[in-house]
Amino acid sequence: MNRLQDKTAIITGGAGEIGFAAARKFVEEGARVMLVDLDEEGLKKKAGELAPDQVQYIQADVSQSKDVQAYVKAALDAFGHIDVFFNNAGIEGAVHSIPEYPEEDFQKVVDVNVKGVFLGMKYVMPHMLERKKGSIIITSSVAGLIGNPGMVAYITSKHAVIGIMRTAAAEAAGHGVRVNSVHPGVIDSRMMESLEKGMNPDDPQSVHEAFSQQVPLGRYGKEEEIAHLVTFLASDEASYITGSLYVADGGMTIS
Ligand SMILES: NC(=O)c1ccc[n+]([C@@H]2O[C@H](COP(=O)([O-])OP(=O)(O)OC[C@H]3O[C@@H](n4cnc5c(N)ncnc54)[C@H](O)[C@@H]3O)[C@@H](O)[C@H]2O)c1
Repeated sequence: MNRLQDKTAIITGGAGEIGFAAARKFVEEGARVMLVDLDEEGLKKKAGELAPDQVQYIQADVSQSKDVQAYVKAALDAFGHIDVFFNNAGIEGAVHSIPEYPEEDFQKVVDVNVKGVFLGMKYVMPHMLERKKGSIIITSSVAGLIGNPGMVAYITSKHAVIGIMRTAAAEAAGHGVRVNSVHPGVIDSRMMESLEKGMNPDDPQSVHEAFSQQVPLGRYGKEEEIAHLVTFLASDEASYITGSLYVADGGMTIS
């Protein structure tokens, strides 16, 4: 249980379900983590569940440059260096067809899910490039690989971060820094409940059942199942892996 011994990590969306599942696993594996989230109460509560000497947190909006610089500084002040960056915060946005999709809602999703990921790379990468080591994991989604009606902003954003991942991987490979993306399918979570309600406010359960039927393994995933994958990519076990897309979707995108 020491695959991340002596490593330090920043996790954005650290008060959320996937981010916190990764934090729990990172801590179990010996890492010290800086949780970053917009939700200060959530951060306080979640940080309280982890070993106090291995966790710190900072409230920040990932779409704001000054906040991103502040979380990077907080991690460097706390740990001296950054080994792992789980660039994970994201929002699902509203559910509407393209003609009905409000422009402001589209912009908001792009600001958090694309600009937020970009800003994280912009301010974390220099430290890793200088040290000539580090692992960055970006959370995309199966929504980065396929389309779905009603989710234009989210799907656009999750396709876009693959571009960020590939560019960063190409720029960083010569400096010993690895960059990969993870693509969760439908996870039993607040975010999926919100999307199910958006798709059918009168009968969200029917959406849940329809999605489950699209999964060859026959069920929604659990956030821990994503955390295991992220932990592998963060660890030195993944030392020859960069620029790759890791799908954990129960087979949803097989065909
Ligand atoms: N839940 C799923 O089924 C699923 C599937 C595929 C991909 N994902 C992706 O996984 C990532 C984590 O999702 P989750 O399921 O844990 O959702 P979540 O809503 O539980 O967690 C997301 C966290 O991000 C935080 N956040 C939102 N906007 C922010 C901002 N501007 N600045 C800082 N923090 C902000 C939220 O407060 C929340 O704690 C997201 O990128 C999401 O798109 C989720």
